[in-house]
Amino acid sequence: MPDTITITDDRTGKTVTVPIEGGVFPAAAVRELDPSLFIYDPAYMQTAACRSAITYLDGDNGILRYRGYPIEQLAEHSTYLEVAYLLLNGELPDAAQLTKWKQDVTAHTFIHENMRKRFVDGFHYDAHPMGMLVSSLAALGTFYNDAKDIFDKPSRDKQILRLIAKTPTLAAMAYRFSVGLPFNYPDNALSFPANFLNMMWKIGDYEVDPRLERAMDVLFILHADHEQNCGTTAMRVVGSSHADPYSSCAAAASALYGPLHGGANEAVVRMLSEIGSMENVPAFIDDVKSGKGSRLMGFGHRVYKNYDPRAKIIKQTAYEVFEVTGKNPLLDIALALEETALNDPYFVDRKLYPNVDFYSGLIYQALGFPVDMFTVLFAIPRTVGWLAHWQELLGDKDQKISRPRQWYTGVDARDYVPVAAR
Ligand code: CMC
Repeated sequence: MPDTITITDDRTGKTVTVPIEGGVFPAAAVRELDPSLFIYDPAYMQTAACRSAITYLDGDNGILRYRGYPIEQLAEHSTYLEVAYLLLNGELPDAAQLTKWKQDVTAHTFIHENMRKRFVDGFHYDAHPMGMLVSSLAALGTFYNDAKDIFDKPSRDKQILRLIAKTPTLAAMAYRFSVGLPFNYPDNALSFPANFLNMMWKIGDYEVDPRLERAMDVLFILHADHEQNCGTTAMRVVGSSHADPYSSCAAAASALYGPLHGGANEAVVRMLSEIGSMENVPAFIDDVKSGKGSRLMGFGHRVYKNYDPRAKIIKQTAYEVFEVTGKNPLLDIALALEETALNDPYFVDRKLYPNVDFYSGLIYQALGFPVDMFTVLFAIPRTVGWLAHWQELLGDKDQKISRPRQWYTGVDARDYVPVAAR
């Protein structure tokens, strides 16, 4: 079979033949055919907007790899900071590199006092922590004038360290503010996940349980990257205008905030609470199918047409967490929903399976996080994915400022009519 595709413009008879590489052919072929011709592809369903060497995703077979390493192996053996290094640098660190990397991240966990006193303290008392995080990320950039030096590698590396290290601090700060508790400063003797849990929960003699610390780390690993999802695409689009990485991360976090993206974990727990008991599951599923109710949140994915591999690991992690915290009573409803949906032709025919958000909220709730914090917990580790893509984008000679075209469907030219004559 030839590895080419031939497109003919029936209007002119002009033909263009281009290579297919990795299942992709260049849209430049269309330009060659007729520069005024555009492809209509809402939501970029058939569009590869970049080349990327970071994350491999095979949605039909439920495979996810970071830099070639299966997600299952990383979740079992690695740590979030090691994975962050891998995503950014392409290779796992050796022992000396890992030690230095951990020290470098740890050195940046504190945030400027004015950020807390003048910015975070200015939010309304019931501000949503994700809204606070989005705006705090943008505001953080104003503390670092060197953030604009995006083509200076040492400066770029420093902003990357700052963003990875400070996002958990901002997240914990947003939570403590929302419940009126004093802010806990980072404790840099702790690991990355333990430091975050400590900033969240420390009151009196609180100590992080190592099993929960590990669970948090596993969740961070699983959420670190997921190729060209909505948030990462936002990061790349804003980054393509050469905005600083704080502004770009704020855009990515805004995209993540939506209930069809990272906000789904929050929506899942709200949905499970509304269902209330296992007896109500069949009626709920009927409403989903008839379109009377909402979608089954935590189910379905643009790319996975199989079980999301992250959901499998998260489901297992949930049981491990519940051994420490006690079982989340919503688990039984979730299991009943999953079983019902996986045996129902509506979901089977549409290849709708549990995604990463279906079980993660149950763990977060068991760990004590209010639902408002769930998307924030997604954003903390995803920061490194956004930054790895931003870095890749800046080094990609094929990239220019993102600027799609449109299919204009409005009215043709007409003359203005003064208001008195309308
Ligand atoms: N419940 C019920 N029906 C669904 C669902 C669902 N969760 N997801 C998709 N469908 C149906 C949809 O109605 C459509 O049916 P029909 O062909 O009869 O019109 C069909 O399946 C295809 O749906 P789509 O909207 O064209 O699929 P999409 O690829 O555009 O959407 C999705 C992907 C994730 C937005 C969608 O599955 C969804 O809304 N899921 C619920 C929200 C959710 O869990 N989001 C988290 C996504 S994973 C993590 C992340 O990205 O942050």
